[in-house]
Amino acid sequence: MSASIPALPDLLARRRSGYSLEQPFYTSQEIYEADLENIYYRDWLYAFPACQLTRTGSYVTMKVGAYSVIIVRGRDGEIRAFHNACRHRGSLVCKSREGQVAKLVCPYHQWTYELDGKLIWANDMGADFDATRWGLKPVHLRDVEGLLYISLAENPDDFAPFARDAAPYLAVHDLRDAKVAYTTTTVEKGNWKLVWENNRECYHCASNHPALSQSFSSDPEVAGASADGSISPKLQGHFDRCAAAGAPSQWLMSADGQYRLARMPLEGKFLSYTKDGVPAAARKPLGRVALADAGSLLKFHYPSTWNHFLPDHSITFRVMPLSATETELTTTWLVHKDAVEGVDYDLKHLTEVWIETNDEDRVIVEATQEGIASPAYSPGPYSPVQESGVTQFVDWYANSLDHLVAPLRVAAE
Ligand code: FES
Ligand SMILES: [Fe+2]
Repeated sequence: MSASIPALPDLLARRRSGYSLEQPFYTSQEIYEADLENIYYRDWLYAFPACQLTRTGSYVTMKVGAYSVIIVRGRDGEIRAFHNACRHRGSLVCKSREGQVAKLVCPYHQWTYELDGKLIWANDMGADFDATRWGLKPVHLRDVEGLLYISLAENPDDFAPFARDAAPYLAVHDLRDAKVAYTTTTVEKGNWKLVWENNRECYHCASNHPALSQSFSSDPEVAGASADGSISPKLQGHFDRCAAAGAPSQWLMSADGQYRLARMPLEGKFLSYTKDGVPAAARKPLGRVALADAGSLLKFHYPSTWNHFLPDHSITFRVMPLSATETELTTTWLVHKDAVEGVDYDLKHLTEVWIETNDEDRVIVEATQEGIASPAYSPGPYSPVQESGVTQFVDWYANSLDHLVAPLRVAAE
């Protein structure tokens, strides 16, 4: 740590739960790197919907901090992930964000890898060269009901508990039968935690999201969490009604607070996140949720994703830090693979509310980052009524770092 800011263990030790974090958590390069090392380079990260890799040789790439990762569908139909660094002299193998290839060919000296990562061609490497030793390095990958997650950790945490919890909720949405209708990538000039803090409350919605506020409930129990963890009879009634119609909905939060699933009702007569409240893709819906007013299955999984799964379409969001003060948000709208644009759905009708909402959130996050950068900034209190979801996120974040930092503290004594 630099001399000018307190050490991370000290900042964590003096943190007050229920208050925003001290400035360095949002601005310092050291803490940004600690976030990458301890969270983004260790945890399972949502990457892409599997349906984006439609054919053999379809690939996508993504950056996670300093890492670049290729995800590719092999000849056997399996989707695998590899480090996007050639085993010869390190060049990126795939330079595009996505594409379609027969083999993975490094652009530098044409070392050629099979879609399963094996090195199959390297010119003039001498008689002793053993190609079997120089395959692409694998990255852990899991597919839960059509959502691809990766982990950069050598020995990642067990993915099975999350997969077990999430699969029943997701199954009814048939994400493997989806196609990408639209995707946007925006860069918000704010720390990744500000993007999350903003996401975990709707205290700001009425005054900042004129379109979304039509459909997204401003009830704090829906947007964040009830302060005492209880569920109101009204909300329980909604869960029960959806469950009876075959759509698991009950509030489920992991013990460590890393992920939550719950199917939440929308406002009034709104059936979808559209300006008129009418479902955007009901002619050929994605999934088998029979209740038109089932609302949205909200799933968050820290640190990389929140999602909305509706009876007619689904939307995934991916949060990726680019620097201490920049975060990339990738939003992907999924519809049924046979749905035809202009016939079964109108792209503007489908996407406009969240395109506007994302931009409104970007403006909020950027103004907050700028305000926090002032020496006059000090942590402020979260609303216990409206912002318990923010407290939940920040506590999860601090606990994630704290249990990693704690052994260092003991060792130093
Ligand atoms: S760096 Fe890839 S072939 Fe040389
Ligand atoms: Fe917002």
